[in-house]
Amino acid sequence: MTGAKESESGKIRKEYRNEHNSVIEKNRKFSGILLEKLDDDVLNVNRIRQTMGATISQQHTIEEEIASHSKDDGHDTSAEAEENWHIASEYYKNIDTKAFRQYELACDRVKQFYEEQHEKQTVAYNIQARINFKTKTRARMSIWEGLEKLNKLLDDSDPDTELSQIDHAIQTAEAIRRDGKPRWFQLVGLIHDLGKLLYFFDSKGQWDVVGDTFPVGCKFSKRIILPDSFAKNPDFLNPLYNTKYGIYSKHCGLDKVMLSWGHDEYMYHVAKNNSTLPIEALAMIRYHSFYPWHQEYAYSYLMDEHDKEMLKAVQAFNSYDLYSKVDQTYDIDELKPYYLELIDEFFPNKIIDF
Ligand SMILES: [Fe+2]
Ligand SMILES: [Fe+2]
Repeated sequence: MTGAKESESGKIRKEYRNEHNSVIEKNRKFSGILLEKLDDDVLNVNRIRQTMGATISQQHTIEEEIASHSKDDGHDTSAEAEENWHIASEYYKNIDTKAFRQYELACDRVKQFYEEQHEKQTVAYNIQARINFKTKTRARMSIWEGLEKLNKLLDDSDPDTELSQIDHAIQTAEAIRRDGKPRWFQLVGLIHDLGKLLYFFDSKGQWDVVGDTFPVGCKFSKRIILPDSFAKNPDFLNPLYNTKYGIYSKHCGLDKVMLSWGHDEYMYHVAKNNSTLPIEALAMIRYHSFYPWHQEYAYSYLMDEHDKEMLKAVQAFNSYDLYSKVDQTYDIDELKPYYLELIDEFFPNKIIDF
């Protein structure tokens, strides 16, 4: 009798456990869909912002761009904006209206996302994220296994999706290869988003994996997308962090600046610890979502001379990231041997710590 009772309660416990696991699985899949949709929305928005920027930047050098944008660093430009409100913007002349509609569709989701990201990316959170990174090994596998893992998890999350991480990785790498760029540059194309694995390890949501990045520990630039949402960030009112330089100093170099934690920063550390990739490649991985800097020229007062070179590299990479999502897809199995060799060339150890 007692045995029958126990087996009955064991059955109930098992059923409960199964149900509980299936809820967790459903939530994970749903979150995976959101992550991908959101990341695509963010890229759409950035594509349009870049189209707008490209119209005025065609004849400018990086030095001229930095100089022309630095005049409003750290002070309010609202008086200027007040005066010029009626002048039609030159920026919109060549805007692709189709792309602009996508922007509007993307806008609500992107807006909600940034409201959360801007509120939660604090200095305290970023220090903790770096401690977690250094004190834990989340997984041990090869780069290619990492790409497949990311692909599988996101594919599982939405069987009908046309989005695929491995397709985006290969498309970006192939576009760079097609243009005859160096092998290390091609490898950046392949692995630049691999840090999204973070989402399945120990992230708190989407806000600490994807989206544009920005420095924490100093005043949030008005050139970060949706800057008003920083008002809810606890650092916004902290006198240690809300001045122009905050915890940094003039032209200290971006290497000394703590950028908001996400797939870029995470993958930069993984690549730095495990590969022989050149510094330009590491900068491309680390700063590819730092749109306020590489697209809007914010924070030039924190840059050192070396960062000017890195900016050129990041900008060279950015177009491939944004515009290689074409209809053409590649036969992954056919290209796999080429990329396995490329990975081996720069990652001496096959199995690495993620
Ligand atoms: Fe990315
Ligand atoms: Fe990407």
